[in-house]
Amino acid sequence: MTVNVGVIGVGMIGQDHVRRLTTVLPGSAVVAVTDSDAERARSVAVSVPGGAAPRVFATGQELIADEAVHAVVVASWGPTHEEYVLACVAAGKPVFCEKPLATTQDACLRILDAEAAHGRRLVQVGFMRRFDPAYRALKETVDGGAIGAPLLFHSVHRNPSVPPHYTADMAISDTAVHDIDVARWLLDDEVAAATVLKPRRNSRAGALQDPLVVLLEMQGGAVVDVEVSVTIAYGYDIRGEVVGETGTAALAEGNTVVVKREGAFSGRVPPGWRERFLRAYDLEFEAWLAAAAQGSAAGPSAWDGYAATAVSDAALEALRTGTRQTVSMRERPGLYTPPGQGRATT
Ligand SMILES: NC(=O)c1ccc[n+]([C@@H]2O[C@H](COP(=O)([O-])OP(=O)(O)OC[C@H]3O[C@@H](n4cnc5c(N)ncnc54)[C@H](O)[C@@H]3O)[C@@H](O)[C@H]2O)c1
Repeated sequence: MTVNVGVIGVGMIGQDHVRRLTTVLPGSAVVAVTDSDAERARSVAVSVPGGAAPRVFATGQELIADEAVHAVVVASWGPTHEEYVLACVAAGKPVFCEKPLATTQDACLRILDAEAAHGRRLVQVGFMRRFDPAYRALKETVDGGAIGAPLLFHSVHRNPSVPPHYTADMAISDTAVHDIDVARWLLDDEVAAATVLKPRRNSRAGALQDPLVVLLEMQGGAVVDVEVSVTIAYGYDIRGEVVGETGTAALAEGNTVVVKREGAFSGRVPPGWRERFLRAYDLEFEAWLAAAAQGSAAGPSAWDGYAATAVSDAALEALRTGTRQTVSMRERPGLYTPPGQGRATT
């Protein structure tokens, strides 16, 4: 079955998802696009390869309502996500929503309520690390018991630089939020409290407080430390190591070639997130299309989107106040798989 997809927001990542759906993955066609920048929507529509160009809609709401659209990708700006995800749920259409699910916890809760009222999952949130082969191997190792019960997770998120519009809060809400999600998923646990430390500032950081260390205390007692460095110059470097009771498991360096010359050896550090997680984005969409073809959703859920926003809010408050902040969350509805029950990607 071909899933006819409508894409809302065709900026940087929206265009990449259109490319993925039209030239990389089988089983889908992009039949509709919209963007608040109408000219951008038109130019993306005419550049889509293959047969008929997607229809360009004036608004996301019209695109969602159109009968030819089976499933929707929301890749517009964060504050617009709630409106579109709610409209998709009301229409009973599967929706892939880029992170964040919504920018406030109240908005996330409205989405949880709508999905619960619908009675089955329709929403997948774009936490693509869960589909990265290296993270999956790490999780399989931890889940398989090879290193005993996990005690600590060291997570490192380094960016060479960030764009001018990047604000101090984005180090948490935009960058560390991926580590927050992966910590919950890897350790199969929710976050109980957050503290943020401010190390000596990188002289390249400008107005940003960079780096940051985000400490997360998990409900089960494990502790997670996340290093966020966004002006580190040398490359995009993602690391993760779980320390268990009897061993450790870490993401391996991703190089396929190691060069040895003049008494030294070297490999390549990816320049950015697109290169590092290329395969993960493809795999997350493969999973989404398979579920959407059944009228449902897989992968990171609306609950995961809500939890990430709740923890990110607590960490932002910890950053502002310099104090430890507890995370309070609603009880998990039955629709969402509880920790410890086959959480691989569900
Ligand atoms: N998962 C990831 O790793 C990842 C990476 C990059 C971006 N993102 C997320 O994807 C989203 C988009 O990011 P981006 O970098 O592509 O931004 P962008 O600014 O390049 O693109 C966003 C597009 O949405 C359009 N838009 C804004 N409001 C709209 C509305 N109400 N209706 C329709 N279109 C609207 C804009 O005109 C723009 O073309 C953000 O939520 C961001 O956090 C996720």
